[in-house]
Amino acid sequence: MNGKIYALIALLLCCAMLCGCQEKPKAEEPNLVLGFSQLGSESSFRIGNTKDIEDKAKEYGVSLMMDNANQKQENQINAIRRFIAYRVDVIAFSPIVEEGWDNVLTEAKQAGIPVILVDRTIKTEDESLYVSQIGADFYREGVMAAEYLMKKADEMGRDHLRIVEITGTENSTPMKQRHDGFWDTVAGDERMELLESVNGDFLRSRGAECMRYLLEKYGEKIDVIFSHNDEMTMGALPQIEQEGFAPGKDMLLISIDGGQEAIDVLKAGKINCIVECTPMLGSLLMETAQAVKEGQRVDRVIHPVERAFCDADDLSALPPRGY
Ligand code: AHR
Repeated sequence: MNGKIYALIALLLCCAMLCGCQEKPKAEEPNLVLGFSQLGSESSFRIGNTKDIEDKAKEYGVSLMMDNANQKQENQINAIRRFIAYRVDVIAFSPIVEEGWDNVLTEAKQAGIPVILVDRTIKTEDESLYVSQIGADFYREGVMAAEYLMKKADEMGRDHLRIVEITGTENSTPMKQRHDGFWDTVAGDERMELLESVNGDFLRSRGAECMRYLLEKYGEKIDVIFSHNDEMTMGALPQIEQEGFAPGKDMLLISIDGGQEAIDVLKAGKINCIVECTPMLGSLLMETAQAVKEGQRVDRVIHPVERAFCDADDLSALPPRGY
């Protein structure tokens, strides 16, 4: 009798377990496998960009293979080759420099895997090597920086401003286009004089080194520092202060990106203007990758909307930047 009761209990337990198993939600199949080669972790922009892409991949049900190239083009090329071997649905990458991609992208094309450029672009004769570029209008960023400076010069009644420029990674799209946008815009303005343009590779440590060099060479002659990103600006700031100058007053500082740390320094009056370069490209990337996989036509170039934050603006209600 006892044996029958035990058998019945065991049977009921098994049924309960089976029912329990059936109630578990099925793990969702990813709708897309996306291989993404990030160029590195050189700035808060870059770290914010990586995080946004990871977050949005989860949100959109995309299986993401993320690879960080640690600032080396060679590592990006190897990562793209791994994505091809794995036969991902779509490859995306942020090219560290513009040249040298034709071979590996031809391999992706021959494997039938579409490629999306994120943030920066490439130089190629073969337009068919990528389907879309999602990233900032860097030329426009340079124009906005110059427009701020020309307006500021009017307000200050200055008839001569000597400018030093700290640029980003050599041969990268933002470095080239920000430089061109800025100098094309001030070209007709005789008040603007370039003292020297030096390369800071988008790094805080290099921003500090460049600023030390420029201060030693030009000292109080420097009226304006145009720095191609917040990271280098943050490296330059303590150097300026150590030399006894007040950044934002004795020397005007113009930066690019708009991460929280730099915005706080702008609010404190030590940076005069920051042109936004948003790293929040994840949603645009997921939507474009899904459209590409479904065979839909996508825009060749997709620019996010960006603005400038300047010393005259009331930024008290600005929401946290998220990077
Ligand atoms: O390509 C965008 C630039 O790269 C950002 O302005 C800079 O911070 C980053 O390293």
